[in-house]
Amino acid sequence: MFTRSKLVQTARLCARLASDTTNGRLSGKVAVVTASTEGIGYAIARRLGQDGAKVMISSRKQKNVDRALAELRSENLEVSGMVCHAGKSEDRVSLIEETVKQYGGLDILVSNAAANPIFGPILDSTSEQAWDKIFDINVKAAFFFAKEAAPHIEKRGGGSIVFVTSIAGFAPFELLGAYSVSKTALLGLTKAMVPQLAGMNINVNAIAPGVIKTGFSETLWKTPEIAEEALKTIPSGRFGVPEDCAGTVSFLVSKDGQYITGETVAITGGMQSRL
Ligand SMILES: NC(=O)c1ccc[n+]([C@@H]2O[C@H](COP(=O)([O-])OP(=O)(O)OC[C@H]3O[C@@H](n4cnc5c(N)ncnc54)[C@H](OP(=O)(O)O)[C@@H]3O)[C@@H](O)[C@H]2O)c1
Repeated sequence: MFTRSKLVQTARLCARLASDTTNGRLSGKVAVVTASTEGIGYAIARRLGQDGAKVMISSRKQKNVDRALAELRSENLEVSGMVCHAGKSEDRVSLIEETVKQYGGLDILVSNAAANPIFGPILDSTSEQAWDKIFDINVKAAFFFAKEAAPHIEKRGGGSIVFVTSIAGFAPFELLGAYSVSKTALLGLTKAMVPQLAGMNINVNAIAPGVIKTGFSETLWKTPEIAEEALKTIPSGRFGVPEDCAGTVSFLVSKDGQYITGETVAITGGMQSRL
């Protein structure tokens, strides 16, 4: 005779087994996701973890790393975390080395960090210092994360790299000029890395989110009048959420995505995405 608690226990076990078989496509894989204590990076880290990967999360602030780790671990995901400022070369190297040390190797890199310190017409708002900061974090760091990660991924027989660019890389936002140019550069970086990474059995792709509801984009969706105007440019009639990006990344880094390389997937609800 089943007691109520036995029934609940059995139901939980069945649910876990079902989720293991449907969501385990990344089991045995190790992933690094940069800038992943909130927003799109966090959703990607969570999804890769749900799909079976061991995930190293990171961001600039220890308290954010601790909070994100606690949340992810409360879902029984296998995650670790550390501080890594994407603009600091020693932090980039430590993030990759520490991941390999803790988990025994690396299969997947998702380079998600970006900076946007200025807002306004491009000629008026862009100081040399702002330009350097934007390109240091958004382009240079992405390249050096990939350069650092690639030999480790190759040692595992291959794997995947994903950059996070933006719809602004296709159609520059008027008040985010330098940021938009940096995101266009990432489209080029994705293509430029294909020949050598293909030889290492690594596919390299990018996602280009549209307007996704995170802290980064809140000026666009939090103020009702601005949100109303922004929504007119989105055929599907809603802003995206971070989870809209996470499943695409999980696919690109899975076995099913391995023959896709050098591509950028626009996740925009239909906004224009051609150069
Ligand atoms: N949201 C959108 O609508 C949208 C659209 C297109 C593209 N994107 C791109 O998506 C990516 C993520 O944006 P998001 O909207 O998810 O941002 P978000 O919600 O503001 O999250 C930013 C995350 O990055 C971390 N971070 C910020 N600067 C960092 C740095 N220099 N080094 C390491 N970590 C850093 C933050 O934690 P700490 O503060 O602890 O560092 C936080 O975890 C960016 O590349 C952005 O350009 C976003």
